[in-house]
Amino acid sequence: MAHMIVAGNWKMNASKSAVTELLSGLKDNVASVSNAELVVFPPFPYLAQAQAELMGTGIRIGVQNICAQDKGAYTGEVSLVMAKEFDVSYVLVGHSERRALFAEDDSQVAAKYVATQAMQLTPILCVGETLEQREQGRTLSVVNGQIQAVIDAAGGASFAHAVIAYEPVWAIGTGLTASPKQAQEVHRAIRDHIADVAPEQARGLKILYGGSVTVASAEELFAQADIDGGLVGGASLQADSFLAIGRAAK
Ligand code: 13P
Repeated sequence: MAHMIVAGNWKMNASKSAVTELLSGLKDNVASVSNAELVVFPPFPYLAQAQAELMGTGIRIGVQNICAQDKGAYTGEVSLVMAKEFDVSYVLVGHSERRALFAEDDSQVAAKYVATQAMQLTPILCVGETLEQREQGRTLSVVNGQIQAVIDAAGGASFAHAVIAYEPVWAIGTGLTASPKQAQEVHRAIRDHIADVAPEQARGLKILYGGSVTVASAEELFAQADIDGGLVGGASLQADSFLAIGRAAK
């Protein structure tokens, strides 16, 4: 299994033709990435296309959000059972855009995390502080609080089957990136926090950095001891830049 994960969160960007172009670019050159598992997170309407195109390539598929319920009267929602039919492996839970724009709170995020694991899929739990919280010196308490909500619901051992993405809100879509040192500091604190309750799982846990990762910034970020890859937004929409970020995983 690759040491690193490089995941591309397409957010609400794509079209049939753009997806065709992006997926074929990824397929054609995936062999150039040797030390990262690549994962794409298309919007739901493109899952079938991603499944068909990526079969046998080693590139995995994830979804950007999920409903914690199995089925029923939940208009507009998509279940894990449905996602699984499209060979989905990963589920983003608690992305800051879900938290901020769709009012998802820690308890909903924890419910999605638990439901994802119950379906034998891997949640990528997203955590991160706002600029205001950082300036108030609350970064670690905010991030650890978001993680603690999941520990309380699922237990520390659950991190054997999860990934964390640290995404400082102030670095998302802004062109600002946490410096490798700033990111490493938070990644280390996250690992230590989980190690308090689950030392073995904390050691093996993959913690991705997200927030304006680019071809230029990836290599130094990924070289940090506790950074195990990236969750990439904008730069994952072009095959060339996404693959170059994948190659930055050494
Ligand atoms: P950007 O890379 O566009 O800043 O997005 C980061 C992100 O939110 C990935 O989930």
